[in-house]
Amino acid sequence: MAAGAASRLAHLALPLLQRLPPETAHALGLRALKLLARGWAAPPVPATLAVQALGLRFAHPVGLAAGFDKDGDYLDALGALGFSHVEIGTVTPRPQPGNPRPRLFRLRGAGALINRMGFNNRGADYVAARVAGAGYRGIRGLSIGKNADTPLERAADDYLACLRTLYAVADYFAINVSSPNTQGLRALQGSDALAGIVEPLQEERERLAARHGKRVPLLVKISPDLDDAALRAMAAAVRSHALDGVIATNTSTQVDGFERELAKSRGGGISGAPLRTRALEVLRLLRVELGGAIPIIGVGGLMSADDVRTRLAAGASLVQLYTGFVYRGPALLHECLRDLH
Ligand SMILES: Cc1cc2nc3c(=O)[nH]c(=O)nc-3n(C[C@H](O)[C@H](O)[C@H](O)COP(=O)(O)O)c2cc1C
Repeated sequence: MAAGAASRLAHLALPLLQRLPPETAHALGLRALKLLARGWAAPPVPATLAVQALGLRFAHPVGLAAGFDKDGDYLDALGALGFSHVEIGTVTPRPQPGNPRPRLFRLRGAGALINRMGFNNRGADYVAARVAGAGYRGIRGLSIGKNADTPLERAADDYLACLRTLYAVADYFAINVSSPNTQGLRALQGSDALAGIVEPLQEERERLAARHGKRVPLLVKISPDLDDAALRAMAAAVRSHALDGVIATNTSTQVDGFERELAKSRGGGISGAPLRTRALEVLRLLRVELGGAIPIIGVGGLMSADDVRTRLAAGASLVQLYTGFVYRGPALLHECLRDLH
């Protein structure tokens, strides 16, 4: 059966992959998964785990966070592992190489990663074709961003270009204004700057909804490094712009105790266990500010089934894995699903 086979193979392969440079390991792991997963089907889950959110039906709450499958090349393989949703991207209108290597670092003892990838991706046209060609039956999130060489004051054009190119293949959009690895991007979380992105996106979405006969939800993905006042302002903006949901959180540039590691990697964002506490705090604060009506996807430091249960209990409608999945492989997803039964 797919689930068992994937876990056993990963159990054998992970220690070997983890001896390689992290980006090489990531690319090799994905290629191996793609070869092996042919013919696998996602493991069945009881209908009681299904989540109705964003006007969509998710088979269960656990998905894969953005940045793992940047170009939509591995959707079918990742779907065969059993994720209810995969957030593809972050995609920019034009292809770009991202930051120079090395740009991904393991902090194994801390259960963490530091990355300063910088939106390496093949561009919106390529991704639209890959996603259209995939057989994956789960929910397809599309994370959208701006090219590194687009000036910040023209950022809205890039988000709009991605929206148009990817609309037909997306089940939801994540407006990524929280990556620390594109200069100035996080400034787009400020109220005026955010309005300058979100308002044109909303207008364009209405036009595209009429043309395509489907209204694709727009979510915003936020940084854990916003202080509480900025989080409250963000929640107010989410309400006033009638955004459909929030994804909390992206990586952090300021986790106490990791200053030396961040200096050594020359910047980047931390993910994994050290992010757990702040990501949970952010979720709790947003839940209070937003009430129950606006779904929040909880991400950041989910390393065990226990973490997932806590995040759902704190008000996340859905959750996403990244660093936990890098260290533990498909066994983590299956542990989470068993635990939720
Ligand atoms: C190597 C790497 C690349 C990432 N790329 C993206 C990205 O392109 N877009 C995005 O929104 N988040 C990206 N993220 C952030 C993750 O989606 C997630 O929000 C973050 O890692 C926290 O979750 P975790 O602690 O489970 O890893 C990336 C994370 C890593 C480690």
